Amino acid sequence: MDKLERLTLAASGVLMTVFFAALVYAATSRNIGVATCVTNIAPFDRGEIIPKGDNHYEVHVVARMWAFEPAVIELPPGADVDLYVSARDVTHGLYIENTNVNLMAVPGAVNGTRVHFDHEGTFHMICHEYCGVAHHMMAGKVVIRRGVTVAPPVPPAAKDLSTGAKLFEAKGCADCHSIDGSESVGPSLKGLFGRATHLEDGRTIIADQTYVEKAIQAPNDSVVKGFDPMMPEPPLTDAELQTLVDYLKSVS
Ligand code: CUA
Repeated sequence: MDKLERLTLAASGVLMTVFFAALVYAATSRNIGVATCVTNIAPFDRGEIIPKGDNHYEVHVVARMWAFEPAVIELPPGADVDLYVSARDVTHGLYIENTNVNLMAVPGAVNGTRVHFDHEGTFHMICHEYCGVAHHMMAGKVVIRRGVTVAPPVPPAAKDLSTGAKLFEAKGCADCHSIDGSESVGPSLKGLFGRATHLEDGRTIIADQTYVEKAIQAPNDSVVKGFDPMMPEPPLTDAELQTLVDYLKSVS
């Protein structure tokens, strides 16, 4: 073997050993995990922070268009976090600045890693996978500060869909439509009834009972000018549809 070859081989061997030692050091002394898609966590659809004792937490993050749940994760310094992420609609990403957290959030799958937060600070979370028109707005943060205590999550009460306002939240309408007139992903629904509305196809309509029912059931047949045809058809029973329409009437 040529002398240079032997030297290269030896140098590679040393480098591999150093890399391997660094991995072992990170995993054992720094409590830094390697990202994995093989977890024994059942798929979840709720974001929550579960204290496991001894400043150790299991955090479930749900990514959806266009927010993380929970949007703010507050923990005390020294927290060891088993972090798991899933998605509700399309594929998102989860990157937390100044950490090794860089995960894909995939519907139906749970990806995870381990992260340790030494000192106080704010770490921004961003979605780094293009996921639709408001992708660039999709952010959250991890806040590490002294004095934070985390209570175990309370199981959600059975959803009360009795009123229009609750239905409006539960069906996801509120994610994209405000009822106070403010701009959002979709048009505000404040003062909807009786409003003259310009549509993308050039028509101008007055929003009445029939129009509003149709616009909820087949939203992309009547897209309001200036907005994208991107609203999913919400699964609604006839009764729920009526409750929603009545609710929209009441905020008009
Ligand atoms: Cu979610 Cu980009």
